[in-house]
Amino acid sequence: MATVTIPATGQTLTDQAEIAAVLAPMGIWHERWDVEGRIGPEADAEQILAAYAPEIERLKREGNYVTADVINVTPDTPGLETMLARFDKEHTHSEDEVRFTVRGGGVFWIHPEGDGPVVAIEVGAGDLINVPAGTKHWFHLCDDRTIRCIRLFQETSGWTPEYIDEGLHSEHPPVCWGPRYLGGDSVRGTSDPIDSPVKL
Ligand SMILES: [Fe+2]
Repeated sequence: MATVTIPATGQTLTDQAEIAAVLAPMGIWHERWDVEGRIGPEADAEQILAAYAPEIERLKREGNYVTADVINVTPDTPGLETMLARFDKEHTHSEDEVRFTVRGGGVFWIHPEGDGPVVAIEVGAGDLINVPAGTKHWFHLCDDRTIRCIRLFQETSGWTPEYIDEGLHSEHPPVCWGPRYLGGDSVRGTSDPIDSPVKL
């Protein structure tokens, strides 16, 4: 279940309708998809993509996504800190960043246009969110350093960040806000964090 936190106001939201109301003006949508009963704990990337094919097809129609893959990050992922350092600085993309988490979690920090305060969206298993193209944001993992999620792309060229000079990320500590269960759900997975991309 996602938790939305606005540090500047001290607000913490866990109600899905309240979360949607805060995120909608930023063009961000949040959905909950079941994980239990849809995939087993040992499901591989192909099985995960197959299990969520109906939802992926719907998003493809709605958002012009052309490829999907499954990323698998654990504390044992080689080069983890280097990889995370690419995500944890304020940046934008020329395409949407769409993620559906099946295990683990992390925090998407959103820096809205205008004067709105920074918003932290902590996602866990079952949360789908998008970060629209051009939105200033950054991401960090929670303490268990684990996330397994489906990623959708609108371009086949891949993930290209445009970093923001003097980004706000340094003003916000990399903490997770929700009632995360730490330490119990990490899975030692493949050495390559990104499983094979699949054409939709
Ligand atoms: Fe990003």
